[in-house]
Amino acid sequence: MLRTHTCGELRKKDVNKDIVLSGWVQRIRDKGGLIWIDLRDRYGITQLLLEEGHSPASLIKKARSLGREFVVKITGKVIKRIAKNPKLSTGEIEIDLTGIEILNSSKIPPFTIEDNTDGGEELRMKYRYLDLRRNPLKNSLLLRHKLSLETRKYLDGKGFVEVETPYLIKSTPEGARDFVVPSRMNQGEFYALPQSPQTFKQLLMVAGYDRYYQLVKCFRDEDLRADRQPEFTQIDCEMSFVDQEDILNTFEGMIKYLFKEIKFIDLPELARMSFDEAMQLYGTDKPDLRFGMEFKELNEVAKGKGFRVFDAAGLVVGINVKGCAGYTRKQLDKLTDFVKRPQVGAKGLVYVKYNDDGSFKSSVDKFFDQQALKSWAEFFDAQPGDLMLVLSGETNIVRKQLSELRLEMGERLKLRNPDNYKALWVVDFPLLEWDNETHRYHAMHHPFTAPKPEDVDRLENQPGSVKANAYDLVINGVEIGGGSIRIHNRDLQKRMFATLGFTEEEAQKQFGFLMNAFEYGAPPHGGIALGFDRLAAMFAGKDSIRDFIAFPKNNAGRDLMIDSPSTISNEQLDELGLKVLKKTEK
Ligand code: AMO
Repeated sequence: MLRTHTCGELRKKDVNKDIVLSGWVQRIRDKGGLIWIDLRDRYGITQLLLEEGHSPASLIKKARSLGREFVVKITGKVIKRIAKNPKLSTGEIEIDLTGIEILNSSKIPPFTIEDNTDGGEELRMKYRYLDLRRNPLKNSLLLRHKLSLETRKYLDGKGFVEVETPYLIKSTPEGARDFVVPSRMNQGEFYALPQSPQTFKQLLMVAGYDRYYQLVKCFRDEDLRADRQPEFTQIDCEMSFVDQEDILNTFEGMIKYLFKEIKFIDLPELARMSFDEAMQLYGTDKPDLRFGMEFKELNEVAKGKGFRVFDAAGLVVGINVKGCAGYTRKQLDKLTDFVKRPQVGAKGLVYVKYNDDGSFKSSVDKFFDQQALKSWAEFFDAQPGDLMLVLSGETNIVRKQLSELRLEMGERLKLRNPDNYKALWVVDFPLLEWDNETHRYHAMHHPFTAPKPEDVDRLENQPGSVKANAYDLVINGVEIGGGSIRIHNRDLQKRMFATLGFTEEEAQKQFGFLMNAFEYGAPPHGGIALGFDRLAAMFAGKDSIRDFIAFPKNNAGRDLMIDSPSTISNEQLDELGLKVLKKTEK
């Protein structure tokens, strides 16, 4: 028998029991007369004890030959600990060792297997299986497991059925590039890995499945960030005979259920905000509502006073930062540097300090006297002691820049507490967005999203003004999910593709299967997909999703452990009908 108990199981009530444990050697403390060994497995740590004069000499010798991460089986008796360790669930007991069997030795690990390890990112990625032994990663994956279980429970309870959809498909246009797979049997042709199962879940609605869900891998070849992986998981859902309200209610219910079951938090009713309002007040479609600092538009009081930068701008807009009028020159310079970083891209930052004595000090004193600045303060609803920060420029650009500054101020003032959850629905997204590079409209969400019925007539003439029944779930400034009511009518889908610049032939070639299906009784339907990795990270209060995926890629899209992507042999290339590379071409 390899074990009678796990390393996290034994308690005071087990004292005097003869037990067998198996696990990894976490730590050995050799104090001469006494030797302690921490034995670890997934469930916890149990302390083993050897005592000179009490334990057999051969056993002490064996214990001294052990190294970190050796895999051992031990036998012994549970005894009460003299010095209790309240940090361990097994901290009231230890094991009086009677036997050690080495099941496997281990090289010295390249970093310490501790909660705070000394290993750098690259090294830990290369030895991911060792990193996964550490508590923070283990707990992330256990949380992920619980989340998937509870998600399935909730959706099953609501009548959703899990259906698997294929991974080798034809490209679905969701805005990113596809990963493609060459076909050996159809040389010169390629499968695409799904960016999401969007069209398949819609076809399942046509097939009458009514409520579908899937915890599903999606693949997107896009630039990677902390909250983006090339392969990630969605909780993908679709429902028939529903309107937007039904979908929002169902998934608000799910998110509340998950918060309750996993975080023991009663999430209040989710706020709803239109896309336009979110852009105007926060400069982003994923506002972080854990703090205020709403935008105030100042065109009325700031333009026409001879300050050319403002006069030339489409929008002068700012935020009021409470209690920061005392910021020093150096602190303000730092903020200016922040907005000037290429990632933010502003040309400069205007500040107005509302001093405690009621006077104002600004970086534009030359153009705005005390009276003018007072009218700004009224606009901002500012009080003495506050600091107003103002940017100007082209409306959409300056909103984005101020959004970055707002988040930065929230961060500096510690207003973005990860244990405080503020969730909302952003609704009424525009159907289309203009792309300056391609001089075309793109679907803001995807081409299957339905225009709002009252806006359909404007699809051809004023496409930019058409809104959609599309919605995003945003928590703490992170887009956790998005979805929409879909087009279920062939003609409307055709019109949508035409608006997006597809010729009829192109639309038929790429999406004929879907449009044909719409001719066989497609029910009204809609759905949503939540980013499962993002949700898991959010529940743990983390920004990066990487540690919630067992084997993730690095920011260059590489798996450092298996060293992928990699070249393939000329034989494989040949078999696939791909050009055989000479060594020099690689
Ligand atoms: P969307 O493209 O908005 O919608 O994706 C849904 C959610 O998936 C998550 N997500 C990602 N997570 C990690 N890494 C990525 N690269 C990544 N990309 C997206 C986000 C996002 O909100 N088919 C539609 C859904 C629908 O309309 O029902 C879709 O995929 O949390």
